[in-house]
Amino acid sequence: MEKLRIGLIGCGGRMGGHMSSSFDRMEDVQVVAVADPIEERRNSAAARYGARRIYRDHNELFASESRETLDALFIAIEPTAHIGVEETAVDKGIPFLVEKPMTLDVDQGRKLAKSIAEKNLVTAVGFQDRYLDLMEMVKAEVDSAPKGGLVYGAWIGGIPGPWWWQKKSTCGGQLVEQNIHLLDGLRWLYGEAISVYATATRGMVAAGENGVSPEYDTDDHSTAVIRFDNNVTATLVSGCYVKSCRPFCGLAISLQDRVLEYHLRNNLVIRTAAETRDIPRKVDQTTLLDRAFIDAVRAGDPTAVRSPYADALKSLELGFAANRSMETGQAIILR
Ligand SMILES: NC(=O)c1ccc[n+]([C@@H]2O[C@H](COP(=O)([O-])OP(=O)(O)OC[C@H]3O[C@@H](n4cnc5c(N)ncnc54)[C@H](O)[C@@H]3O)[C@@H](O)[C@H]2O)c1
Repeated sequence: MEKLRIGLIGCGGRMGGHMSSSFDRMEDVQVVAVADPIEERRNSAAARYGARRIYRDHNELFASESRETLDALFIAIEPTAHIGVEETAVDKGIPFLVEKPMTLDVDQGRKLAKSIAEKNLVTAVGFQDRYLDLMEMVKAEVDSAPKGGLVYGAWIGGIPGPWWWQKKSTCGGQLVEQNIHLLDGLRWLYGEAISVYATATRGMVAAGENGVSPEYDTDDHSTAVIRFDNNVTATLVSGCYVKSCRPFCGLAISLQDRVLEYHLRNNLVIRTAAETRDIPRKVDQTTLLDRAFIDAVRAGDPTAVRSPYADALKSLELGFAANRSMETGQAIILR
């Protein structure tokens, strides 16, 4: 089988995950081109795979590369750097996997979704948890209990390292940047939301102190209450103020006869009156995400991934609606 020729746009933290989970291990792909404004990062990625086409950014890459030279692109850049990146990939007909959040500009996302559909291009968004064995088990349990119930979801921790994470204008806020994984998980489990009300707080984390950027201005924590069909109400909390403890992260779902405790990317506890089962994670969900995308590219089948661009955009739009609610104090009715 001929190796799939891959180009990388952005060689930072998350691309490192795709490298170790996928490109280092998969025998049917070859990284042939890399781009990053940070010289050390682009050179290190190129050296790892013997790639000789090394570019300073996506513009330089696209000036030389085309569908004739690349079979697919992986894009992992900061949320505000999506300026003409995916648009050019679509124009050139190059399938791509892009990391969430794919943009902070909803109009840009909608235009892209339309042009992707017009070209029938294979795309994927990095919602890795859709490929997690534990989330598949949660989905099977939820699907077998159509009367629904209450959901508590949480992603509570400290402040991630990248500079752009600490400003709401450059990351979109923790719900849109990070907890969008659980938000997307809720959509995957329950379908489209009916309404969202959200509130947020600042004042716990001090800008410029204890290693926090002087420009820090994102919310310390937020809470979104999301209504779904079938008697499901989810409360999704996000927090980045924690210093020295490990709060529960994941989903706690109370069905009529079972409790599901999904501990984020680690294990799933299913409790009934008769038994308690504790199931550990067995897969690398990033490998499975990337495998699904690569196989979809080979097959030319945009439907063969669990989170194509247009679907992922709906999760992003739900995150933006929650942000609007935080800003206005109003519930947002979605349908
Ligand atoms: N799916 C996941 O689980 C997951 C995990 C972590 C991060 N992410 C997402 O991945 C994205 C990147 O996050 P990160 O942690 O890797 O950030 P990062 O800051 O570590 O890396 C981003 C890289 O992109 C480069 N870059 C910026 N503009 C570019 C351009 N025009 N052309 C080429 N390179 C460019 C930067 O120089 C930087 O090296 C974010 O959207 C983040 O939310 C997803």
